[in-house]
Amino acid sequence: MSKALEGVRILDFTHVQSGPTCTQLLAWFGADVIKVERAGEGDATRAQLRDIPDVDSLYFTMLNHNKRSITLDTKRPAGKEVLETLIRDCDVLVENFAPGALDRMGFSWERIQELNPRMIVASVKGFGPGPYEHCKVYENVAQCAGGAAATTGFDDGPPVVTGAQIGDSGSGLHLALGIVTALYQRTVSGRGQRVQTAMQDAVLNLCRVKLRDQQRLDRNGVLEEYPQYANGTFGESVPRAGNASGGGQPGWILKCKGWEDDSNAYIYFITQAAAWPAICRVIGREAWIDDPAYATPRARLPRLMEIFATIQEWTKTLTKFEAMDILNKYDIPCGPILSMKELAEEPSLRATGTIVEVDHPERGPYLTVGNPIKLSDSPTIVTRSPLLGEHTDEVLAQLGYSGEQIARLREERVI
Ligand code: COA
Repeated sequence: MSKALEGVRILDFTHVQSGPTCTQLLAWFGADVIKVERAGEGDATRAQLRDIPDVDSLYFTMLNHNKRSITLDTKRPAGKEVLETLIRDCDVLVENFAPGALDRMGFSWERIQELNPRMIVASVKGFGPGPYEHCKVYENVAQCAGGAAATTGFDDGPPVVTGAQIGDSGSGLHLALGIVTALYQRTVSGRGQRVQTAMQDAVLNLCRVKLRDQQRLDRNGVLEEYPQYANGTFGESVPRAGNASGGGQPGWILKCKGWEDDSNAYIYFITQAAAWPAICRVIGREAWIDDPAYATPRARLPRLMEIFATIQEWTKTLTKFEAMDILNKYDIPCGPILSMKELAEEPSLRATGTIVEVDHPERGPYLTVGNPIKLSDSPTIVTRSPLLGEHTDEVLAQLGYSGEQIARLREERVI
């Protein structure tokens, strides 16, 4: 069976996490992704957070599956020539260097267009045009600058960054969508174009509901579904809402049996309006069904914390899985707090290819997250990340370089 992006060739000039996330997705959809790295060191993440000495880290392997790797010094004239050949040969160049690095290397957008007018040039930068456009940016900087940190955590604590890599992997996802969209437009226009994603923008896009709440707060002075509402204390900006739901159905994280010893013995419980009578029956509070102080979503708003405390008395008598089983019978929306260990061992995630075991010649078998986007006509088979420069000779030969030329480039330490 052919793959969705079969025939698309990607010059992958990405490193660390944001760019590699994007090109890994494209590779999973069938693109030929050629990762260009500096000889000797390669992508810095190969050596970061290593769990086995001198072996590519999990950080690297888990972001660079299904790619080929070539080494190339793109600052030397002979290396630039190879890069030019690659630009002529590929459909998309993806990069996430610091601002201006590609220009300094001699490969401006104008120059790339001269070499290949059909090429799509896709970039991740920390910020778009503006006061911070020249800054280098990592994940948590983007989370802080994009509104996530200010709105995450509890009201009485400092801003908190989330474990989900919304700055890096979030930007990579946005960029991947931009690339396939540009590829689609190219089928009509015949031309390439620039695709740019700023990490701040990607995080802000994912924090869209908080900008919604900012405007609701500006207008009304309160946010009724926030835990602060019971005390009525709001400032000028959207406060941190703890575990409150981001939507119109109030929710909170509640303790379950064993919470004293197990930091993940919790359940997310949503008091969906439609399920209110069922909730009252399950927790033994039938009187709340018709009591005007509890019967309607509006009446419940100032009492949410009290209501969740009462529901918690019930959840504390059950494990999170027992509570799930009971609540699901009544269509009460809820979710267990699953630890990484539980997720790694979850058979259904293995069955769908969302958690995959991959074998690596130097590190042996390891787990990774497979493609979370499932295409029925383009299934993903996750293959291991390449060793540094593993495909240099193969790719150069495909580009028309002779064995002698390749040997010379190696002698001159260009590859
Ligand atoms: N051959 C020769 N030189 C190469 C090369 C190659 N194959 N690959 C990269 N380089 C050079 C670059 O041209 C650059 O040179 P210059 O500074 O002289 O112009 C240099 O290596 C370093 O690149 P840079 O991107 O500045 O790396 P860094 O490690 O200092 O910074 C980031 C890392 C992530 C902070 C930075 O790249 C960045 O801000 N990227 C954009 C935002 C982003 O994606 N951040 C998230 C990362 S997960």
